[in-house]
Amino acid sequence: MGKSLTRKIIESHYASGSMISGEEVFINVDQTLTHDINAVMTYLAFEAVGLDRIRTECSVSYLDHNLLYVDTKTPDDHIYLQSAAKKFSVHVSRPGNGICHAVHVARFGIPGKVSMGGDSHTPHGGAIGMLCIGVGGMDVATAMTGVPMRLKMPQIVKVNLTGKLNPGCNAKEVILEMLRRVSIKGGLGKVYEYVGLGVSTLDVNARATIANMGAEMGATTSLFPADEQVRKFLKAQGREADYIELLPDEDAEYDEVMELDLSALEPLVACPHQPDNVKKVAQLGKEIMQKSGIERENVTEQKKVQQVLIGSCTNASYSDIAKAALVLQGHHVHEDVSCTCAISTRQIYKQLSHDGYLEMLVDAGVRLLEIACGPCCAIGQSPATNGVAVRTTNRNFKGRAGNPTAEIYLVSPETAAATAITGTFTTAAEIMGADIEKLKTVQEPEQYFIDDSMIIKPLAKEEAARVEIMRGPNIKPLPVPEDPKQNLCVGVSLKAGDNVSTDDITPASAEFSSMRSNIPLMSQYCYHRYDPTFAARAKEMGKSIIIGGENYGQGSSREHAAINPMYLGVKCVIAKSIARIHKGNLINHGIVPMLFENPTDYDGIELKDELEIENFLDQIQTRTVAVHNRTKGNSFRVKLDMTDNEVEVVLSGGQLKYLKKYLMK
Ligand code: F3S
Repeated sequence: MGKSLTRKIIESHYASGSMISGEEVFINVDQTLTHDINAVMTYLAFEAVGLDRIRTECSVSYLDHNLLYVDTKTPDDHIYLQSAAKKFSVHVSRPGNGICHAVHVARFGIPGKVSMGGDSHTPHGGAIGMLCIGVGGMDVATAMTGVPMRLKMPQIVKVNLTGKLNPGCNAKEVILEMLRRVSIKGGLGKVYEYVGLGVSTLDVNARATIANMGAEMGATTSLFPADEQVRKFLKAQGREADYIELLPDEDAEYDEVMELDLSALEPLVACPHQPDNVKKVAQLGKEIMQKSGIERENVTEQKKVQQVLIGSCTNASYSDIAKAALVLQGHHVHEDVSCTCAISTRQIYKQLSHDGYLEMLVDAGVRLLEIACGPCCAIGQSPATNGVAVRTTNRNFKGRAGNPTAEIYLVSPETAAATAITGTFTTAAEIMGADIEKLKTVQEPEQYFIDDSMIIKPLAKEEAARVEIMRGPNIKPLPVPEDPKQNLCVGVSLKAGDNVSTDDITPASAEFSSMRSNIPLMSQYCYHRYDPTFAARAKEMGKSIIIGGENYGQGSSREHAAINPMYLGVKCVIAKSIARIHKGNLINHGIVPMLFENPTDYDGIELKDELEIENFLDQIQTRTVAVHNRTKGNSFRVKLDMTDNEVEVVLSGGQLKYLKKYLMK
């Protein structure tokens, strides 16, 4: 049997371990990326390790998320990150250059390489046949030391694409359809590898939308072949020399096969509050209409949309924005809608400006935002109270837009533009009629404007050695967990429901994001929107445990969702299931992630129950642990879905202590 592309890349980066799915494998990492609101902890960890410079081929520090300097904290963080990058020979992409994933694939991505990024949407780079995996910040620091990264060998799913997208349908429809079928946790432990004739009809930017949002399925990553489309893209970026053809073998073996006909897709929408709550846009209108007993044609009676956002790393390529502009051409944004556009890179901004698309947007009443993540992670543009926000972003968790009363709907740029015109859910075809064919004329440029003047290149070794790292007062030392204890008696400080996201644990927004380099301050807001009493209670308990439902810790890779609870004394999490990146973050920061052997035991535990575990360190090694509920007088068992290396890290008291020991060896 032949090999999948995923297997080929993992093999070419193999360091040790087993390549049987579900087992632990270690791979060498070529590139890393970080971004401003997660990276301070990464660089503090790298400093603590004591190396003078990075050991990767290329690492890039992006300053792209929080560019609204509401006080001194974020500019202090940016100065720290810029000076740390100089010290350790890391590239810096300056504020205004663009959103990390879009810039990285355009200016640094190379087919066949392995990249680890401190952001869950790092798989974006899978669009060019690069194995890109989102991890926590401590894992990025580890990769920067050149130590091979642990990975659970994934199952590899073949997604056979056939047909061609109809005009008015976007790659967003492909990934929303995948989410509808797979769900937000169905991709756990899997890599989705896209193959088939339909793949050749999707350019790199369309592929990037699919790979980016594959993270919402809980997948390890998503991957496309490096084929003619990738060659064209790299050529247009002036980097054709970086191209190599990389395809799976024709008789490649896969663990699972899915079929998806692109021609059969219609405009889709992910409804609140999960990205897999997917419906057809037309169906949504119909349902709302049925409730009010009015036909769909009468659009004024459908759900009123208060805000539309076109942009983010997921859907702000040149063709995405150009198509949105064409839908809006000759129309105006509805008077009750606030419509904004955040373009993903400076390169695309210039190109759109040159080709007249920005003017079309401005003429239609769209407000152009800064080239940054911004509203996607609640940095500005909060919806109104109970507001309906329609966005081309990738997540619609409750509170993700900075306002838990808002409803967020995820759509393509074409649907977003049409919706901005009517003020209710509308497809591009409903606005454009036969003119929808015009959208077919939009192509990615054959040659992009290439200007890397906003990327600071690494210094020579001698010069780097003289750099002094600048540390503002908000940057507090990285907290290090206590070593685990043999006997544990802890209270339940939180009983969480299903699908708790890292946004629930560590809220986004300009204000909260700027606290991420100051754990004593930020930990006070841990679970702030989900349960505002948590932080004080956990602190008072001293040591505690969190009980979680299904898919605990889904969403963003932010390791603060592990660091803050650790700082507040949380020693373990017992859940029905735990999302991949968050599980890794818990382990790295010394919190033991455990799963109910019998999920119904979840029902018998209440807030503040006292749980006791004897001989914990010995039991961890057997991967099964007996827990006694002293308050209820009963016992239950939990299991540890952890590899040998993960157990070693937990027993070492977290990744930083483990890494120091490893490097000393
Ligand atoms: Fe930024 Fe949102 Fe993407 S925060 S990296 S635009 S998911």
